Amino acid sequence: MKTKRISEKMEKPLNEQMTREAFQAQVYLSYASWAEVNGLAGIAAFLYKHMNEERQHMFKFLKFINDRGGHALVQAIEAPPVDPKDLGDCLRKTLQHEIDNSKSIDKIVNLAHEEKDWATFNFGQWFVKEQIEEETLINKLLDQYNLATDQKRQNEN
Ligand code: FEO
Repeated sequence: MKTKRISEKMEKPLNEQMTREAFQAQVYLSYASWAEVNGLAGIAAFLYKHMNEERQHMFKFLKFINDRGGHALVQAIEAPPVDPKDLGDCLRKTLQHEIDNSKSIDKIVNLAHEEKDWATFNFGQWFVKEQIEEETLINKLLDQYNLATDQKRQNEN
């Protein structure tokens, strides 16, 4: 049993975030399956890859909580949302999920700062950076999608 080096107040949101990362993985998995059966093989591959990344994020939280003397609790994962209407809807919703996740990470970093828990603060920084990368990547895909649909519309007129 390790000496506990995180507060009860910190352990709770860390545990919630672990489940949230598992939820993110379910969202990617479900959207990937939707993309695959709708003939969007490239997007499906992208989403499957991200599903794996989210599972790794979940495991990072689990290890961190346990390494700091807490207890990572594996909880039920909320069901993923309904299928998107089309590719644009899929990308917009994926981006919104990531933005919501970034806000959730920010709360942990903020609490770590308040508690002067520099180990968790440092751990959280990795996720802050990761979320910037993920939001940027999906924003780029969304820009490309919007450009392509605008062009298609112009060609039709
Ligand atoms: Fe691990 Fe993109 O949230």
